Amino acid sequence: MAARKPLIAGNWKMHKTVAEAVDAIRNLAERIPGESKVEIMVAPPFTALAPAAEALKHTAIALGAQNIFWEDEGPYTGEISGPMLTSAGCSHVIIGHSERRQYFGETDETVNKRLRAAFRHGLIPVFCVGETEGEREAEKTFSVLDKQVANGLKDFVADDLKQLVLAYEPVWAIGTGKTATSEQAQEVHAFLRSLIEKKLGRGLAESLRILYGGSVKPGNAAELMGMPDLDGALVGGASLDAKTFSEIVLYDRSA
Ligand code: PGA
Repeated sequence: MAARKPLIAGNWKMHKTVAEAVDAIRNLAERIPGESKVEIMVAPPFTALAPAAEALKHTAIALGAQNIFWEDEGPYTGEISGPMLTSAGCSHVIIGHSERRQYFGETDETVNKRLRAAFRHGLIPVFCVGETEGEREAEKTFSVLDKQVANGLKDFVADDLKQLVLAYEPVWAIGTGKTATSEQAQEVHAFLRSLIEKKLGRGLAESLRILYGGSVKPGNAAELMGMPDLDGALVGGASLDAKTFSEIVLYDRSA
């Protein structure tokens, strides 16, 4: 099987001013050795991206945005495009986060357009999928994920998706302190990998990194990351504090 280097990504959501973001990055960089077994990414709010890029120079930490608009420029008040993100120093972008779906009208169709824009500009998309609590209780988890993946990746071929990162984030586990058990997460990750294999072939399925997100903390990271189909984490709340996030990044040492 192809080796998959884990990616530990911090999603700062709507937190941190410019000064706070730069401070957190400096603090994080000091805690993380130059050589790491995992890839690391932080996604500050748009306003802090350019100064964050500056603070991240000479570190091994990558910079991500939390969203991308699908057009490159034009009369789209309030939107941010791919060229703006790359010129601010981003290499990654989170797409289709459940908070975007829940509060800002994100749909599978707009996710598909955003993914297309990310690839067009050489940004590595972290494409989020996940079921709500009600959907899980109604035993619709797999059908919901199947639909999100099928529609989100509509009209892509495997060759387009070599850089894709998928993130499984059960909505009921985000910011709630309720983590999926490692077995629950593994079950879904294995399902997602088999779905990708069925739709796009074995090569992509084996190389694809699938992150888990939802109340990841230093205390549960090692166990989650120990599951065969979990290739990293998308961390919200616990990524805001540099010390806590560094403990997650260094999970394999604390195991
Ligand atoms: P959480 O958020 O770690 O605070 O649960 C994860 C996410 O929304 O990406």
